[in-house]
Amino acid sequence: MLHVGIVGMGGIGNNHARCYTANENAKVVAVCDMVKEQADKAAASYEALAFYSIEEMIASGLQLDACSVTTAGVENGGDHYEPTMALLRAGIPVLGEKPISNEIPKAREMVALAEEKQLPYGINLNHRFTPAAVKAKEWLTNGRLGELQIINMTMWINNPNESSPWFHIRALHPHSLDVMSYFAGGVDRVHAFFKKGKGRQIWSNVQANLLYENGVIGHLTGSYDAGGSYGLETLELVGSEGRVIINEACEKLTFYPRFSREVESYDHLGGMGGFADTFPARINAWIDDLLNQVPPAQVDARGADALRVQLVIEALIESWETGQVVKVPQQ
Ligand SMILES: NC(=O)c1ccc[n+]([C@@H]2O[C@H](COP(=O)([O-])OP(=O)(O)OC[C@H]3O[C@@H](n4cnc5c(N)ncnc54)[C@H](O)[C@@H]3O)[C@@H](O)[C@H]2O)c1
Repeated sequence: MLHVGIVGMGGIGNNHARCYTANENAKVVAVCDMVKEQADKAAASYEALAFYSIEEMIASGLQLDACSVTTAGVENGGDHYEPTMALLRAGIPVLGEKPISNEIPKAREMVALAEEKQLPYGINLNHRFTPAAVKAKEWLTNGRLGELQIINMTMWINNPNESSPWFHIRALHPHSLDVMSYFAGGVDRVHAFFKKGKGRQIWSNVQANLLYENGVIGHLTGSYDAGGSYGLETLELVGSEGRVIINEACEKLTFYPRFSREVESYDHLGGMGGFADTFPARINAWIDDLLNQVPPAQVDARGADALRVQLVIEALIESWETGQVVKVPQQ
């Protein structure tokens, strides 16, 4: 039984707490929020101890086998650094929320500390923790798609938040770019155009081209001004032998062979209902990685993966600001 703590008891921290509570191999023993009411309310809900600072939680000496860091902050990533560093310094494995950080130097420090301490450090890149994505990856790996040539992703939601010029690309697209890298690997070069939505001050729409290290060419359409009745995300893989489309992360998986009309299609593969189910799927995988003592470098969707997509995001911003194709730096 894993004894788990959670830092940051907003909507997403409570989501993590419900996922741990539903898993028979984990128990939430500590919740921490600098807003006392948030911590107290969560402590009552999950029968856990309440803490109001990370220092107090660590100093308590309570057994913590792992902690979620579900803080937010600037561009939804500004507050993750302090608690993550404190937990890693104390030798506690961390599952952080995305973006790993909105600042690359801090993301690098967190990844480096986890590596130095040889600690599991995962990120909640939950969109690819679906049976549909796993099956599509199997098809890719066993050659059913042939050689992967093109990858297209559309991800959009309605989000009126105007807090930062780059909020949309930094806060939402760790997800889309991580799913794309799950299938196509590392990104070599990028080019992007951004557009401010109607009446908006921030760059809330993006069209990006990506050249992967293996030669696959990709495209990302992203928006905070779209969605609702027309969905959250669509992924398309175009191979030399067939094409795959995944709708809404898990809801529909379709294989279109290139040379026949025998389309194969699955609705809600593995019983996954909708996007909300990706949270327990991802957190259950994190719990399994910890219980199976998977080496830190093999933890699924780890800090290094999240840093990799954040570097792509910064390259996309640089491309728009300079009008150039930009090479993505090494980690
Ligand atoms: N994976 C997903 O699909 C997904 C979806 C939505 C949001 N998110 C991410 O989840 C994170 C949290 O989102 P939210 O909407 O719950 O945010 P929120 O602002 O509602 O909650 C964050 C909480 O953290 C607390 N906090 C901040 N710094 C703290 C610290 N140092 N110590 C203790 N408490 C601290 C705040 O008081 C607040 O209660 C964000 O990073 C966001 O990007 C992920």
